[in-house]
Amino acid sequence: MIHLTETDSTSNYLIQLSSAQQLEEMFVVLADFQTAGKGQRGNSWESEKGKNLLFSIIFYPTFLPIRRQFLLSKAIALAIKEALDSFTPGFSIKWPNDIYWKDKKICGILIENELMGSKIEKSIAGIGININQQIFYSPAPNPVSLRQITGKEHDPVKVLDIILEKLRLYYELLKKGETDKITTNYHQSLFRKEGFHLYADNKGSFEARICEVEDAGILVLEDKEGKIRKYAFKEVSYKFDD
Ligand code: BTN
Repeated sequence: MIHLTETDSTSNYLIQLSSAQQLEEMFVVLADFQTAGKGQRGNSWESEKGKNLLFSIIFYPTFLPIRRQFLLSKAIALAIKEALDSFTPGFSIKWPNDIYWKDKKICGILIENELMGSKIEKSIAGIGININQQIFYSPAPNPVSLRQITGKEHDPVKVLDIILEKLRLYYELLKKGETDKITTNYHQSLFRKEGFHLYADNKGSFEARICEVEDAGILVLEDKEGKIRKYAFKEVSYKFDD
């Protein structure tokens, strides 16, 4: 592991380092501050200096066919969700790659893959978890930190250790092809796993319930008319009551 005081982005740092030298699987780059933290959809990731957990981790999941690549995201999200559960209840995984506490976002995950033919040669997962930050300035709609939830400060490195321990176990399952447990636990951990909720796609909003998340990452919903609707990333959004 490398622990930096400051970098542009732990993911950029790890991408560059892994091109320059062969790194061990699950090698971690951790930083106290990022000057250009990257979020999903081209957004930036806000994190006050020294307050939160910002790290990237490398995998070589060459054994995983591309059509099942979302299994790695499932394993990562589960490890983080379960690590956070050890502090307090109420966490869930919001498809595709966020960790929520109740209706608020505590963690974002950005996975960048390098493909070689039909295989994933290299996968770099960048993870940002709000640990001790108490005021958020960016327009991100609903951030929350572990400090705000528990009323206590936490050591980001200790949270990282718990995540890595759980991630090793889930990654082993993935390597051994024992993916049922990953899929079952992921489903059990989903935000809005039960009941009908409001969603919106390019045709408007509708109520639906979650049937499953396929190993390719497709979200399968069933609407109130019993129609099955399948969505890839960015094709559907979750609507919240204000
Ligand atoms: C999201 O938008 O929800 C994903 C956020 C991912 C942020 C993390 S922080 C550590 C790593 N380095 C980055 O530049 N981004 C990821």
